[in-house]
Amino acid sequence: MFTFETRITKMLGIKYPILMGGLQWLTKAEMVSAIANAGGFGFITAVSFPTGEELREEIKKTRDMTDKPFGVNISMLPVIMPNDMTEVYVDVVCEEGIPAVETAGRNPEPYLPKLKAANVKVIHKVPAVKYAQKAESVGVDAVTIVGYECGGHPGLDEVTTLVKLPKAVETLSIPVVAGGGFCDGKSLVAALSLGAEAVLMGTRFMMSKECPVHENFKKWLVQLQETDTIVVEKSIRNPARIIRNEAAMTVARMEEEGATLEELLPIISGKVGKEAYLSGDINKGCIACGQVVGRINEVKSISEIVNDIMSEAEQVLIRLNNLSSINKT
Ligand SMILES: Cc1cc2nc3c(=O)[nH]c(=O)nc-3n(C[C@H](O)[C@H](O)[C@H](O)COP(=O)(O)O)c2cc1C
Repeated sequence: MFTFETRITKMLGIKYPILMGGLQWLTKAEMVSAIANAGGFGFITAVSFPTGEELREEIKKTRDMTDKPFGVNISMLPVIMPNDMTEVYVDVVCEEGIPAVETAGRNPEPYLPKLKAANVKVIHKVPAVKYAQKAESVGVDAVTIVGYECGGHPGLDEVTTLVKLPKAVETLSIPVVAGGGFCDGKSLVAALSLGAEAVLMGTRFMMSKECPVHENFKKWLVQLQETDTIVVEKSIRNPARIIRNEAAMTVARMEEEGATLEELLPIISGKVGKEAYLSGDINKGCIACGQVVGRINEVKSISEIVNDIMSEAEQVLIRLNNLSSINKT
């Protein structure tokens, strides 16, 4: 069996350095157990569950579908709001003996003592090297750095993975996971070459057989090009890379006209996106998606995705070895 062993594969107890990022409404038991069974590691997105008990139920359901390890994504709101659920989700994670969390959105420092006491590894996802350095200084176990091409929140600085990733690796001593733009064996080897110890993918897994979105949605995704996404919500300092559909163009126009957060909320709210996933109405709602969508033209099962990545990675290494002068006299 061909694989790569890194500090991340050892930390998480997994076969392959392939992670599935939290995808709101989508990474539930079916997807997370599938990536675990395929030898990678996935995160149930806590924010998809309005109560701690519902998250606990989903963890139990996932455990019924795999005996392999998996994690929980805790996406924190940029500021503490009255309905902030972070504390509740952290408690469930600790009580349930979850081995690792993916945190995102704001500094996880206040929750680290509790998580560390429960032996939960913290992989903090950031869109900038300076936030990665901050995360290391407060004691997280690893960081995921996402480039500007990523689906979801790429940060304000417009710097791509190719620049951010090696810079993060060069300035940190904890392991770095690469996110944003990865989908195959070629890009996995590229990430490892730049010093990453795993890749984290979102868009590739959204286009999987197990992903619980309407079939129309998947048919639409496979024909999208790398130019079919747009970054919106910069005006409210919460940039999001989403599919360039009617809803996205409305948001972009409203932002140009100076719309407030309250005016934007009915269109950008995650609940509208959820309706679009279920109905297959591709123009409804803001749908997170990375530029890599333009490189993916087939919906596959999660185990096929993982196996294809690993066999392509092996072929890439053989090709590179043949091209190089290593071991040739
Ligand atoms: C549909 C979708 C939903 C997402 N939802 C979340 C989320 O709820 N929390 C989070 O931390 N990241 C979320 N992300 C970001 C992913 O976890 C991951 O960081 C990103 O997709 C990596 O870039 P890629 O799309 O180029 O693979 C989402 C991404 C997508 C495509």
